[in-house]
Amino acid sequence: MYEGRTNVEEGKILGPENTRIVSAVGPGVHTFAVGDRVSVPFNIGCGTCRNCTSKWTSFCTKMNPAPGIDGAACGFAGMRPYDGGQAQFLRVPHADFNLLRLPPGNEHENDFTMLSDIFPTGWHGVVLSGMQPGDRVAVFGGGPVGLMAAHSAILQGASQVFLVDKQADRLNLAESIGATPINFSAGDPVEQILDITDDRGADRGVEAVGYQAHDTAGKEHPELVLDNLVKVVRSTGGIGVVGIYVPTHPGVPNGANAGRIGWDYGTFCTKGQTMSTGQAPVKRYNRQLRDLILTGAAKPSFLVSHEVPLVDAVEAYDKFGRRVDGFTKVLLRPNG
Ligand SMILES: NC(=O)c1ccc[n+]([C@@H]2O[C@H](COP(=O)([O-])OP(=O)(O)OC[C@H]3O[C@@H](n4cnc5c(N)ncnc54)[C@H](O)[C@@H]3O)[C@@H](O)[C@H]2O)c1
Ligand SMILES: [Zn+2]
Repeated sequence: MYEGRTNVEEGKILGPENTRIVSAVGPGVHTFAVGDRVSVPFNIGCGTCRNCTSKWTSFCTKMNPAPGIDGAACGFAGMRPYDGGQAQFLRVPHADFNLLRLPPGNEHENDFTMLSDIFPTGWHGVVLSGMQPGDRVAVFGGGPVGLMAAHSAILQGASQVFLVDKQADRLNLAESIGATPINFSAGDPVEQILDITDDRGADRGVEAVGYQAHDTAGKEHPELVLDNLVKVVRSTGGIGVVGIYVPTHPGVPNGANAGRIGWDYGTFCTKGQTMSTGQAPVKRYNRQLRDLILTGAAKPSFLVSHEVPLVDAVEAYDKFGRRVDGFTKVLLRPNG
């Protein structure tokens, strides 16, 4: 959205990840009161449709008025018409269903902030891969989502987690939580993982890059990470794709066909692998992940690099967008 590569409406308030104190409740809200501390999932569910009632709130069939799209989110392109939280106040539809209660006070604030999106998203990527305790997992992408996938794989009992990226600061963070960093600018990441594993490769893979996957020179190849995962994951292994791939790509030549990606489906099929995809259903996991934070087992705030008031957001966006060293995850404080 920030790079102008979506059809997000001008003037939309961005910000899908929110931890807030309730400041007002509407007449239809019965279980939350002013003063409650809450985590707001990025998905907005109705709570009653077929997908919401089976815990797939990321594919709510009612909350997105656009034809043919199931799933709504706050502050997000194509997941209309809900504003996000980079503002003093945020309106939460169907609050009784969507909100997650947090303990009062401000303990674990930065950890809880990861509950709205990236911690459940990283966890979901590992679940989609079919990981079992003892498996080796290769995570491609060391941004917030990939780092959360690595943290989640370790929490779920992986015997070894590889994290592939080229950004030194992100690779260092991966190493700090016990993952094995793989720098793809130092050589083919698949070869590097095969070397370390005596050619066995990984049992599972997580895609946390998306269609903007690029080579060492920065040129985009939307098939690159999918191909690498097919190569590095063993036969009958699984791949969880939480990086975003889009059917159309506004403002780009041939963007109407952006979803038609030539990746190595033949090898994928021959190896008998599985692949699962999609936006994360935050409510499927956030209660348990909150409790892992409360007991100290999970500490997703390890990746928070900066905390700034909302008025400094423009500068923080710029630095995050340019991947200025150390800008891994920025928290914005709406009230300074
Ligand atoms: N499924 C969901 O619910 C969900 C939720 C949040 C974000 N996402 C998506 O997850 C993806 C990652 O999000 P993020 O915030 O971590 O993004 P990010 O842009 O901060 O991180 C992506 C990382 O991938 C790395 N990368 C690029 N090409 C690569 C390659 N060839 N091999 C390995 N790494 C490569 C980049 O260096 C970067 O560090 C995005 O597509 C985002 O839209 C999905
Ligand atoms: Zn629904």
